[in-house]
Amino acid sequence: MARAQPRYVCQDCGTISVKWAGRCENCGAWNTLSEETQSPPIGGGSKARTNGHVVGLKNLTLSDEAPERTLTGNVEFDRVVGGGLVAGSALLVGGDPGIGKSTLLLQIAASLARYGHRVVYISGEESANQIRLRASRLNVSDASVELGTATSTSDIIATLKRGTAPRLVVIDSIQTMWDERIESAPGTISQVRASSQALIHYAKEHDTTIVLVGHVTKDGQIAGPRVVEHMVDAVLYFEGDRGHRFRILRGVKNRFGPTDEIGVFDMTGKGLIEVENPSALFIAKRDKSAPGAAVFSGIEGSRPMLVEIQALVAPSSLGTPRRAVVGVDSARLSMILAVLEARCGVSLAGRDVYLNVAGGLKIQEPAADLAVAAALLSSLNGVPLDEGSVWFGEISLSGALRPAAQTAARIKEAAKLGFNSAIIATSDDISDSLPDELEISEHDSLSSLVDHLTRSSD
Ligand code: TYD
Ligand code: MG
Repeated sequence: MARAQPRYVCQDCGTISVKWAGRCENCGAWNTLSEETQSPPIGGGSKARTNGHVVGLKNLTLSDEAPERTLTGNVEFDRVVGGGLVAGSALLVGGDPGIGKSTLLLQIAASLARYGHRVVYISGEESANQIRLRASRLNVSDASVELGTATSTSDIIATLKRGTAPRLVVIDSIQTMWDERIESAPGTISQVRASSQALIHYAKEHDTTIVLVGHVTKDGQIAGPRVVEHMVDAVLYFEGDRGHRFRILRGVKNRFGPTDEIGVFDMTGKGLIEVENPSALFIAKRDKSAPGAAVFSGIEGSRPMLVEIQALVAPSSLGTPRRAVVGVDSARLSMILAVLEARCGVSLAGRDVYLNVAGGLKIQEPAADLAVAAALLSSLNGVPLDEGSVWFGEISLSGALRPAAQTAARIKEAAKLGFNSAIIATSDDISDSLPDELEISEHDSLSSLVDHLTRSSD
């Protein structure tokens, strides 16, 4: 048999080249090309069939109800996956090392096992004793989770095929798995792809849910290029700031449910605790008398969530003042500063601007613009905002304000948490059913809001 030609695969973008180079021609990354041997053709090469079987085609009518789902008992997790685990589906859970992926999945595995389902947890990273130690810390040692330490996918599949098919299999992590048919090292693209394929194939055949844990590279991608993301049915990211206790599980792809749903957890000495009311948590312990803080009433997935946005405007000693943001898009801040200057005559040139979202949450909604502008103006004027107010609305480049979606839900959440006023963009969505105790002040332009703040600070 002719020796397979070596090929070089960029571990960042997946480009294949026939000769090695220090720099990938496609993405320009350095030192990412690694030698990988081509996998044998699926189906046996020259012996492959030339005329295939006829595949039964179906119509679009729903044959049976929604896919079979199993609740894990962890409310936050179940919501993010769209209402429980779907039989025969594959999930990818990504996140930085040490963020709590193994902790979360061991808790989920234990919770499901306590309902009497067969659950297998395979670790390629830690020894059985390390996992047992974690289980005892999490107080789940009594759950009947079957623990295995293995890295070969054929060994794992052979093990899983003994006995009844498990309801859930956790593979921690996909980067440590290897498939014998591929010669490259574990963690390389070919290995990650082949191992995922084999494990997902097992899951689909046996109606098992498989959860693959994936480490995130420094630029935030799972296993270099998004090879695994395309193969699985749902991708969840476990994120958070290691300096903070809160962890957020975010759905970014889901073939069986909504995306953008988030689950909030609190990392404690006894593992991850579900946070039922994240708003109360994110706005707890705020310094109400300090200037530069505005409470934003946002929507994450299907839930309203209040967060505090903090701004600090300080005289700059630099030629180009600093603009530093945590938790909000920096381009969004630049835009708001430009609109404030061009449309409202508020200049922040010559001043450093710092912006932070309390609690380590990341905000992606443009509706946060108004809260950001209010926090900036409050810090600039040195006057604290009314502690009982929430802010939301999008700022357009003309300086006009645009209403945010789901205005009513945002206002109700604020009222529930004891806020008494909402400063928002003029909206048609304000109905009579809104709580009376909350006063709504509508503005149609940013300059009208600047006047409002200047008047209230006089
Ligand atoms: P781990 O689940 O091992 O992270 P990952 O699998 O994503 O790499 O979590 C590691 C961190 O979590 C570690 O820094 C310790 C912390 N931790 C707690 O704070 N409480 C706990 O009960 C457990 C098990 C871990
Ligand atoms: Mg781990």
